[in-house]
Amino acid sequence: MVAETPVTASASNARVQTEPTPPFVEVQDLSIHYGGKKILSGVSFDIYENEIFGIIGPANSGKTSFLRALNRMDMFTPGMNVTGTIKIDGHDIQRWKNVYALRRRIGVVFPLPVGLPLSVYDNVALAPRLAGIKRRSELDIIVERCLTRAALWEEVKDRLDSLGSLLSGGQQQRLTIARALSQDPDLLLLDEFSIAVDPVTTMRIEDVLKELKHEITIVLVTNLVQQTRRLSDRTAFLLSGELVEVGETAELFEGKVRDQRTLGYLEGRFG
Ligand SMILES: Nc1ncnc2c1ncn2[C@@H]1O[C@H](COP(=O)(O)OP(=O)(O)OP(=O)(O)O)[C@@H](O)[C@H]1O
Ligand SMILES: [Mg+2]
Repeated sequence: MVAETPVTASASNARVQTEPTPPFVEVQDLSIHYGGKKILSGVSFDIYENEIFGIIGPANSGKTSFLRALNRMDMFTPGMNVTGTIKIDGHDIQRWKNVYALRRRIGVVFPLPVGLPLSVYDNVALAPRLAGIKRRSELDIIVERCLTRAALWEEVKDRLDSLGSLLSGGQQQRLTIARALSQDPDLLLLDEFSIAVDPVTTMRIEDVLKELKHEITIVLVTNLVQQTRRLSDRTAFLLSGELVEVGETAELFEGKVRDQRTLGYLEGRFG
């Protein structure tokens, strides 16, 4: 039997007060290769719970590849090789035995809406059904909740049975977000979600994300530096597979950068 170390009430209280919140995602020395070509070079940073973490950088800097590694898409991408460690909620995702269980905890939104050839309702109900939820009343609640969280419910509540692909582009992208939320993920990955969305809808989705971050952690990859300025608590700048720096977004935009390349990119001097 292991001897117990007595912990006084005051000592344990002190620990509660001083212990910093552990990061929700820990990226340590992460490199990504396709074939023999290195496209991400030993990057390390942390992402905290309930923050919007922005990732910016010019084309080919490795942003989408990083999201793929986070979502274990490397398992399904021929030639993609990931080294280093990613921990989510303290667990090394490379060692996670059930990769499907991991991926259920992560919602992903791609640049263009990926509409399934299904009704609006079934687009959102699909994953919960696959997870074993069969009762219509339960599915109704999930579908309404996800569409509401994606700011789409009011617009589609009378046409839940029509094809998702008949919605406008901006509505389809919000439908994609509703679907990404349908399994109650802890982490939402967005890859240039507004590339095909008009400015008004972009602002609506941005408002949705600001609300969602109170419940989930969001990684926002964007080519638009003003979008990371509006949304992200902290921002990482990737350049040709190198992590140039990570900082508080407000500070970076005040010019408090460690590397002048960051300032150059934020000011639109390249990229
Ligand atoms: N499946 C793949 N096989 C081989 N090379 C790939 C693959 N996917 C991406 N790459 C290469 O990896 C590099 C980084 O691509 P990635 O998509 O991660 O960049 P990105 O920063 O998201 O760029 P963009 O802003 O254009 O979306 C590119 O040179 C790309 O051609
Ligand atoms: Mg990309």
